[in-house]
Amino acid sequence: PRIVVLISGTGTNLQALIDATLDTQPTLPAQVIHVISNKKSAYGLVRAANHSIPTSYHNLLPYKSLNPTSTALARESYDADLAQLILAQKPDLVVCAGWMHILSPSFLAPLADAGVDIINLHPALPGEFDGANAIARAYEKWLQGEISRTGVMIHRVVSEVDRGQPLLTREVQFREGETLQELEDRIHKVEHVIIVEGARMALEERARRKEQKEQKEQKEQ
Ligand code: GRF
Repeated sequence: PRIVVLISGTGTNLQALIDATLDTQPTLPAQVIHVISNKKSAYGLVRAANHSIPTSYHNLLPYKSLNPTSTALARESYDADLAQLILAQKPDLVVCAGWMHILSPSFLAPLADAGVDIINLHPALPGEFDGANAIARAYEKWLQGEISRTGVMIHRVVSEVDRGQPLLTREVQFREGETLQELEDRIHKVEHVIIVEGARMALEERARRKEQKEQKEQKEQ
């Protein structure tokens, strides 16, 4: 199976995915075929290049200059082109791994029509800290004594930010006296595990769906 990974930053989750495909008995029996970033300087692009994985920098700025009066239109055409760029690779799965750009229906619809699954890693539990800076926001709530644990999840991507059906969640308990950095380091370690498990689950589910579809078609013949 073919995986396209979307990144915006250091790409440690991308690295976890790549490493999991390289074992002799791969934890993730798939191939990362393309890595796309919305940030030119994303170190994850270097990680991909180190493994001879093709990369693309999909830049929003030209779309903004083409649509100077409407950010919405700029994003719509950016997303539509991103969908085509991805579909050209004939992927089975798109993994958003530290991807910091809200994907609109003009991205989601073409992929849904093509039957391509999309999953996202988010460092919070379902419905708790949607959006950016989730770890820092959870840490603040813990310091105020309002929560005792946070977590990480892999969920399907829908138009509401971080609100898709969770595939996998892992709780992370806070530790007395822990700094934000120490919490982030612990959470990233959990991310690196569940992003691989989540991708494997999504691909297994996809294979089951495909099999059921084929069996159904055979019966109908
Ligand atoms: C993850 O916590 C992700 O949820 C957030 O940034 C981190 C990604 O790190 N957006 P990396 O780019 O995979 O190292």
